[in-house]
Amino acid sequence: MATAPYAQNARPFLHGGELEGVAEVLAGGQYGHGDITERFEQALTSFLGVDDVVAVASGTAALHIALAVTGIGHGDEVIVPSMTFCATVQAIRACGAQPRFAEVDPDTLCLRPQDVMEALTPSTRAVLPVLYGGRAVDLSDIRYELEQRKIAVVEDAAHAFGSYCGRVRIGATNNALTCFSFGPIKTLTCGQGGALVPRDPEQAAHARRMRLLGMAESPSERARSATYHVGGVGLRAHLSQINAAIGLAQIAHFPSVEAQRKELWRTYAAALEDLPDVRLVDVDVDRSVPTLCAVRVPERDRVFAALQARGIGVGTHYPPNHLQPAFRRWWRPLIATEQIGEEILTLPFHQKMTSHDARLVTTALREALR
Ligand SMILES: Cc1ncc(COP(=O)(O)O)c(C=O)c1O
Repeated sequence: MATAPYAQNARPFLHGGELEGVAEVLAGGQYGHGDITERFEQALTSFLGVDDVVAVASGTAALHIALAVTGIGHGDEVIVPSMTFCATVQAIRACGAQPRFAEVDPDTLCLRPQDVMEALTPSTRAVLPVLYGGRAVDLSDIRYELEQRKIAVVEDAAHAFGSYCGRVRIGATNNALTCFSFGPIKTLTCGQGGALVPRDPEQAAHARRMRLLGMAESPSERARSATYHVGGVGLRAHLSQINAAIGLAQIAHFPSVEAQRKELWRTYAAALEDLPDVRLVDVDVDRSVPTLCAVRVPERDRVFAALQARGIGVGTHYPPNHLQPAFRRWWRPLIATEQIGEEILTLPFHQKMTSHDARLVTTALREALR
């Protein structure tokens, strides 16, 4: 029996062309970094309107490499909202740096300038805003202050591929090193993958070396040479051609992704207006391509269980990180975040869903709240 679309919180959407693209790579026998990966990088570069994009194996790898390229290392402190996926924090830890957890705006679940200023310490070397749900994070009020203190900004735009910041796509503002995820449930998927937008050719070269074990030669140079040179720290974090082929097939269809996701989010927003106990997390839908639809509800655990019992794929994005055992060393009281952590609930949100499905979910939510 086919499951109803609303039974899943999120799922990938195939547009057509992905299977053929993967089959071609499989038949070609070159599964590592290759021409298809570079074609995908070029497609991203022109889509975003930027000078360069470095494709990598995941959003987590993009964050790890972006922080390393920025010079973040042992003993450095990185300001990060506690309200994010644990991957953001693990990328900081992977560099040997320490998270300094910060509060977020209770309406958007994104960092505000005052949250950053409140969290600053003499050891702060970077700020890592998370573009929750897909919306841009505006830190322009403190940009000068951050520059004076030589604090870098690395954006976790895992949720925000295709969204706008003002008139340009996120990634094209030149203010931060921007990191995307192309995981299974993102607005554009490679199956698994990620990318970062470097701000200068030096950062780009560093990121390209680091994604391929620190080797100085590019894969095509290596293919022609009898040896290679390892210049520094590196990861096995390149984007395979198999995954790049999926992304390349997807990117051509992005306008339909944008339209469908905005429409579904607006349908939810309209239907939820009648539910006074429910607080919709605002994604700035006019400028964003929403990745999820999050609400805050009273008695979240009871409501979650009631909706799950009715076959509705609800989720929790996210349990706060400062309360996680692995990150407890960096705990500090974050009253707003802890409250959000008790109330947050994500509704089924993906492109197999119709407006009718969204209304059914809203009705079930109304009943669960009684
Ligand atoms: C906010 C956020 N940051 C980082 C990541 C990590 O991306 P990936 O799963 O591609 O490593 C995710 C993935 O879901 C995410 O939601």
